[in-house]
Amino acid sequence: MTDLKGKRILLGLSGGIAAYKAAELTRLLTQAGAEVQIVMTAAACRFITPVTMQALSGNPVHSDLWDASVPNNMAHIELSRGCDAIVVAPASADFLAKLAQGLCDDLLSTLCLARECPLLVAPAMNLQMWGNPATQRNMKQLREDGIAILGPASGDQACGEVGMGRMLEADEIFEEIEAFFQPKLLAGKRVLITAGPTFEPIDTVRGITNTSSGKMGYAVARAARDAGAVVTLVSGPTALAAPRGMERIDVSSAQEMYDAAMARVAKADVFIGVAAVADYRPKNAKPHKLKKGTGDMTLQLQPNPDILGTIAARRKAPFCVGFAAETENLDAYADAKRRRKKVPLLAANLAQHAFGADDNQLILFDDKGRHELARAPKLELARALVAHIAKLLPKK
Ligand code: CTP
Repeated sequence: MTDLKGKRILLGLSGGIAAYKAAELTRLLTQAGAEVQIVMTAAACRFITPVTMQALSGNPVHSDLWDASVPNNMAHIELSRGCDAIVVAPASADFLAKLAQGLCDDLLSTLCLARECPLLVAPAMNLQMWGNPATQRNMKQLREDGIAILGPASGDQACGEVGMGRMLEADEIFEEIEAFFQPKLLAGKRVLITAGPTFEPIDTVRGITNTSSGKMGYAVARAARDAGAVVTLVSGPTALAAPRGMERIDVSSAQEMYDAAMARVAKADVFIGVAAVADYRPKNAKPHKLKKGTGDMTLQLQPNPDILGTIAARRKAPFCVGFAAETENLDAYADAKRRRKKVPLLAANLAQHAFGADDNQLILFDDKGRHELARAPKLELARALVAHIAKLLPKK
């Protein structure tokens, strides 16, 4: 079960070289269980063939305003009725200008004007076209008209220039569409999250760490962002790409994570400690590579600051959520940890199931007791956790 299962998406393509990305986007949408109807402008048909889009969507492609096969000859009305959203990707400078003006001289622009559902557009153009005051005026108008703008991104362009205006990648547009459909349960809230492992140096080339992948923390960050929160993610070393639409602060040791979290906590409404923070660090980490000796070697460890515990004990503490990764006696240890750390909500999982995996199983402990979330992909669990947090947040 995914977020887009059963959603009816009308995907419109206007003319631009980024049209090839719409093919991949169609695949991602149909794989997620969405029903995709394709509408192409005449210019789009010069960049990618309707045959490709028909094969990928599994539906006939429409491009003609005067399509006699539509029984009442009203393709411009019929196609968008019952749709959950219209997504135009690529949206060319010309197409966006038409939208801003309310022009409708082809099937896609007419559908957009006659729609009853939300409209999302993914601009795609050369950087000068994007930067042109006329385009920027049009974008301002579209935002005011309540149209969701996805991107654009900055980077290499098909014309050989580098700059702002390239269309988002297919997976990024897919994520934005998923996010669009999420209820905005944390709108206006600022959420601070720690994620990933920490790395505690022994010397300049060695250290102590753990097998946390950061996946759960990043999923929680994404779920909070999709729920409308302003998210700051303090991340230990992970191999994960920085999620879009949030501030990510990279740290290495527990002390650095503590410092980064403390510098930002005063502004946070919610703190979620997902990081697997090392409880101890080597005392006197050496500023050079240690040489081996002949006998045993002893490492002396000293405790790290407890980030969650410190934040929860603040006079004006944000709503604090802890995570517990246990290998045994999950319920007893997790509930005791919640009380010890004095947090209103704690999400517990078995470390052997959670670390590095894409799925997880969570048990939430709060003042009302125990709430079990069935095994599911981490993003799905993260969305359920965010919904639970939203329910417990004090009403202003
Ligand atoms: N945590 C933290 N700072 C630390 C240690 C833990 O913020 N120095 C947070 C984690 O991010 C998590 C929660 O505290 O939200 C639980 O961490 P865990 O290490 O499992 O708990 P401990 O209290 O250290 O207990 P133990 O290691 O004995 O299981």
